[in-house]
Amino acid sequence: AEKKMWGGRFRQKTAARVEEYTQSVSYDRLMYRQDIAGSMAHARMLARQGVISAQDAEQIVDGLERIRQEIESGQFVWRAELEDVHMNIESRLSELVGDAGKRLHTGRSRNDQVALDFRLYVSDAVREWQELVRGVIAELVKQAEQHVDTLLPGCTHMQPAQPVSLGHHLLAYAWMLRRDYDRLADCDRRTRVCPLGAAALAGTTYPLDPASVAEELGMHGTFRNSMDAVSDRDFALEALFCASLIMAHLSRFCEEMIIWANPNFGYIYLPDAYATGSSIMPQKKNPDVAEIMRGKVGRVYGALMTLLTTVKGLPMTYNRDLQEDKEPFMDTDRTVSASLSLMAGMLSELRFNTGRMASVLRSGFLNATELADYLVGKGIPFREAHHLTGAAVALAEDRGKPLEDLTMDEFRTISECIDDDVYAVLAYDAAVARRRTQGGTGPDSVRAQIAELADWLE
Ligand code: ARG
Repeated sequence: AEKKMWGGRFRQKTAARVEEYTQSVSYDRLMYRQDIAGSMAHARMLARQGVISAQDAEQIVDGLERIRQEIESGQFVWRAELEDVHMNIESRLSELVGDAGKRLHTGRSRNDQVALDFRLYVSDAVREWQELVRGVIAELVKQAEQHVDTLLPGCTHMQPAQPVSLGHHLLAYAWMLRRDYDRLADCDRRTRVCPLGAAALAGTTYPLDPASVAEELGMHGTFRNSMDAVSDRDFALEALFCASLIMAHLSRFCEEMIIWANPNFGYIYLPDAYATGSSIMPQKKNPDVAEIMRGKVGRVYGALMTLLTTVKGLPMTYNRDLQEDKEPFMDTDRTVSASLSLMAGMLSELRFNTGRMASVLRSGFLNATELADYLVGKGIPFREAHHLTGAAVALAEDRGKPLEDLTMDEFRTISECIDDDVYAVLAYDAAVARRRTQGGTGPDSVRAQIAELADWLE
């Protein structure tokens, strides 16, 4: 049997079921790169501080480099009885370089080690999500550029409200994701703080130099309180919240694509590569990617709740409960990364049925507000104009036609103020063009948004 690194005081073997229950190497091995980078930085610092010799540090670094190659070429043997990624790597290091390897853990505990590895792992993931978020924004901007002047019914309460530019509609999602990007940057700032030197919980007696380790690892700074350093998982919680909101945003867009793909809407042609068929109904083309993405939100929210629950009520300082932080995060990482890159791919191939949008636009009285504003322009108080317009809508509905097809005689039964110039006002593109205030749906405003986002994308 393997000798445990911590086995000095133990007389009995660990029960096999306990080893299986307590091991984390089956998943935390994904942090091998971060673990190796942290150990190299620690070893170099120990040598600089005269705690170990320069030769020992060199052997450690070479050994760790070799272990990295063994892992990446699939030769490395992971052992569940060695519990976690940290002890698997350290034990192999001792095999490779003997006593030097056994000096690596001087002034360090797995408690600050795992906190460091996980911070680096979370930060790497967060930075990758940022790039993927940027990729989705870029696709949204590309589509928006094509559709500044494409109009569709804008909805509130899922009911036709006012005409809007399709580009404007798409850019709404770009701005949501832009906030996600900034939120991730902010989260990363707090994540890249180095806990090494906190040791088990109280700091250490060796003359360590945590600041130089932080710098070598590209981190923004060091911990301020060793007890906080080993028990803090706020960074992972923040990242999980950022991920949850990204998924919420993607899911809202998926929902719209699912609705738009329904032939009763018929606004989009689903790209074949991103749809699937039915085993029984030959006509079907289902928006499964969007549905699965909408469905995956639950597991990401679940991960956030899982970790919030794990840390709740934990006394100071490190508690083994914290080992439960990694799986929900890793699952979230896979989900968010895959969802963002699929969304970018799907967007790049999405085609819009602009003719269908234009004809649907004529069937929802979306220019009613224009008529009310027109009457206000003729000196009628808005409340009264609203009422008169309602009557015009009822009349048009009775006659089975849109407002702009009412004859002048029909309009005159509503109000004597209405003249021939009303028809120009009721034109949908004119209605959109009039909304030229900042952030509105008018073409100039939409182009200004595109320019701002394009600038940012550079
Ligand atoms: N595998 C552990 C974790 O993920 C590493 C830290 C264990 N520390 C300890 N004192 N048992 O949290």
